[in-house]
Amino acid sequence: MISGKKVVLGISGGIAAYKAVDVCRRLMEQGAHVVPVMTSGSKKFIGEVTLSALASEPVKSSLWEEDDPIPHTTLGQEADVILVAPATARLIGTYAAGISSDLLTATLLASRAPVVLCPAMHTEMWEHPAVQDNIRTLQNRGVVIIAPEDGKLAGGDIGQGRLASTQSNVSAVERVLVPNDLADLKILVTAGGTREPIDPVRFITNRSSGKQGYAIAEAAVARGAAVTLVTTVDREAPIGTQVLCAETADDLRSVVMSCAENHDVIIMAAAVADFQPANPADQKLKKTSLSSNLELEPTYDFLVDLGEGKLPHQTIVGFAAETEELEKNAKDKLERKNLDLIVANDVTAPNTGFSYDTNEVLLLSDEGNTTVPLSSKRVVADRILDAVTELRK
Ligand SMILES: Cc1cc2nc3c(=O)[nH]c(=O)nc-3n(C[C@H](O)[C@H](O)[C@H](O)COP(=O)(O)O)c2cc1C
Repeated sequence: MISGKKVVLGISGGIAAYKAVDVCRRLMEQGAHVVPVMTSGSKKFIGEVTLSALASEPVKSSLWEEDDPIPHTTLGQEADVILVAPATARLIGTYAAGISSDLLTATLLASRAPVVLCPAMHTEMWEHPAVQDNIRTLQNRGVVIIAPEDGKLAGGDIGQGRLASTQSNVSAVERVLVPNDLADLKILVTAGGTREPIDPVRFITNRSSGKQGYAIAEAAVARGAAVTLVTTVDREAPIGTQVLCAETADDLRSVVMSCAENHDVIIMAAAVADFQPANPADQKLKKTSLSSNLELEPTYDFLVDLGEGKLPHQTIVGFAAETEELEKNAKDKLERKNLDLIVANDVTAPNTGFSYDTNEVLLLSDEGNTTVPLSSKRVVADRILDAVTELRK
C-alpha cells in the first residue's frame, strides 16, 4: 500500500542520521518513491551520496540551487507523506514556530500531506520543557510523533532519546497512508519451513526463510487486521502481531488447529514438510548406527481438514511451491483441498521463492487467475490481501 506513494524523507543533523539510510532502504523495498531532503546539519553526520544512491531521486537540500525554482512547494504538494527521521530539537522547534529557514522546514510548511516526525536527541534535550511544548503543539496540529526509545545514547549515556526502530518509523508511515480495510478481520498467518527430527541434533527441513509469511503479517497489521503469526523461524516479528512458535509439522498442526476457528482468514505460507522420519531417535545416533536408508512417513495434511471444516466466515489460502506445471498443480491443490485462494510460485524462476526478498506468484481462485510480476515480498503480500478482500466481498 506504500507502493507507488511519494515519501519525502527529511533528515536533520543528529547522531541518528546514519539510521535514515536504513529507513530509506525499507521504504524503497516496499515500493515507495523516496525523495530525500537533507539539512546542512545532517551532512555533517552522513554523506549525501549514500542517500542519493539508495533513494528514488538525488538528495535535495537547497531552496536556491535546485533545478526547480520553487522546490519546497513542488515537494510539499506532491508528497503523499513527509517523514522526518531523525528530527532534531532544532527542526522540531523551527517547524512548530512556523519558520521556514531551509528546504526541509519550507517543505513541511508548504505541504498538506500527513507528517510523521521521529525525534532523536539526548534525554536532557528531549525532556526540556521547550522541546516538549513544541512536540505538543505539533501533535495538536495532527503531526504524528514517534517517541524516541530508551537506551544507549551517544557518549555512553543511557536514557530516552534514541531514534525509534526503523520498523516503528516505517510502520507509522504505513498507518497514515494505508486504508484500514482489514480492521474487522482476525488473520492467522503461518511462516517458515518445518523441521522434522531424525534425532535430537539432526533434522530434515526445506529452504523456506519465512520472509513471505512475515511480509503478509506485516501488511495485514498495517491494514488494521488482528494478526496471529505461527512461525518456525526466529525473525523479528511485525509490531502488533501475536506470535506463536512451532517447529515440526505436528507442532504447526496443533497450534493452528487450536486457534483456527477464531480466525476469519487463514493464510498457510509456511512450507510444511510432506514427510517426517518414521522413528526419530531419543538419543543422538552414532555414526555407526546411522542407517543409510532413512525411513520416512507422510506428515498429516491438516490443510485438507481446514478446507473441509471451513466455517462460513472463513477464507483459507494455501501456497504451492512448484518446479513444473505451476498452474495445473496449483489448480489441483485448490480443488482437492477446498481452498478459496492459492498462491503459486515457480521456485526455480530467478529471484523467486525461498530466501529471496522478491517473489513472482500466480493467484488462483474460482474467480480466475492473476499474475503478480516479480516484486518485493511486501508488495506481493498486499496483492494477496487484496485478493482475499475481493473474495470476501
Ligand atoms: C556530535 C553532535 C551530535 C548531535 N546530536 C544531536 C541529536 O541527536 N539531536 C539533536 O536534536 N541535536 C543534535 N545535535 C545538535 C544539532 O546538530 C544542531 O542543533 C544542529 O543545528 C541541527 O541542525 P539541523 O536541525 O538543521 O539538521 C548534535 C550536535 C553535535 C555536534
